[in-house]
Amino acid sequence: MHDSVLLTEAIDALNLKDNSIAVDMTLGFAGHSSQILKRIKNGYLFAFDQDEEALKFSKVKLSKISDNFQVIDSNFVYAKEKLKELGIEKVDAILYDLGVSSPQLDEDYRGFSYRFDAPLDMRMDKNGKITAKLIVNTYSYEDLKRIFKEYGESKAAASIARNIVKYRENKEIITTLELVDIIKSAVPYKERIKKHPAKQIFQALRIEVNDELNVLKKSLDDSLSLLNIGGRIAVITFHSLEDKIVKHKFLEVTKIDDLSKGLPNIPEDKLPNFKLITKKGIKASDEELARNNRAHSATLRVIEKIK
Ligand SMILES: C[S@@+](CC[C@H](N)C(=O)[O-])C[C@H]1O[C@@H](n2cnc3c(N)ncnc32)[C@H](O)[C@@H]1O
Repeated sequence: MHDSVLLTEAIDALNLKDNSIAVDMTLGFAGHSSQILKRIKNGYLFAFDQDEEALKFSKVKLSKISDNFQVIDSNFVYAKEKLKELGIEKVDAILYDLGVSSPQLDEDYRGFSYRFDAPLDMRMDKNGKITAKLIVNTYSYEDLKRIFKEYGESKAAASIARNIVKYRENKEIITTLELVDIIKSAVPYKERIKKHPAKQIFQALRIEVNDELNVLKKSLDDSLSLLNIGGRIAVITFHSLEDKIVKHKFLEVTKIDDLSKGLPNIPEDKLPNFKLITKKGIKASDEELARNNRAHSATLRVIEKIK
């Protein structure tokens, strides 16, 4: 089962009131949503996910706590429109716990993991058009190299892309372990024993399949515009590319512009609309790190709308 990361830290940071309207952008197996629902007895929770199984499971789980919630089967990139259709234009708390859940990683048929053999898929939304198989079999050498470098931050991006293109001249690449072997053949042994060479490449493919970074950028802008005064957004990220996007966006909307900074009294309209609640990202406690391996790469950042 999924072990929710930074659970107490994220829920406390949302500053929930009894009547808060909250949004969980990444419902998953409802670890965070359950805690939210318990704290907003007279409020309401809207919870998004694009994974049918997670939605089905979590709907039952949440209904044992309260009826004040709705699960919404959608990519969170459409959350603002979906909420508007439901008559909701402002909310008090928004949570993102990004990435895939442990059950998604462990379901071998979904192809997220380089540890078991499975068809190369990696779609969080099973109706999505792009699969990892399509990418490795049709993208050009240049495009493969670019995504491995940008999204996987892999030093071996060029040689792995080259080996993929060479391999597929003879045979279509179909399974995860077939790809793992191709990746291994492109990485020198002494690099391979330091860390599993497929980790970064699988991360890169997953980001490309689900367009994860663009989706996050657009959604953060929408979420900032959805907050009531006093409302908060909490984001848990699992790798540096996601964390950089959140960090930069939060800094951009909380900074005082250079011209105003020098003034003795900064006019009200020059003050930022948001305040950083976490100056530095919050990391998991030692106790959580000992219990949950996924927590090692997690960072929590929080922002509040102040005017
Ligand atoms: C790390 S899990 C969330 C776990 C959850 N907080 C819990 O405690 O059980 C991330 C979930 O977000 C979903 N997800 C990721 N990106 C999404 C997106 N763009 N739109 C909708 N759901 C998304 C995944 O399908 C997955 O179920």
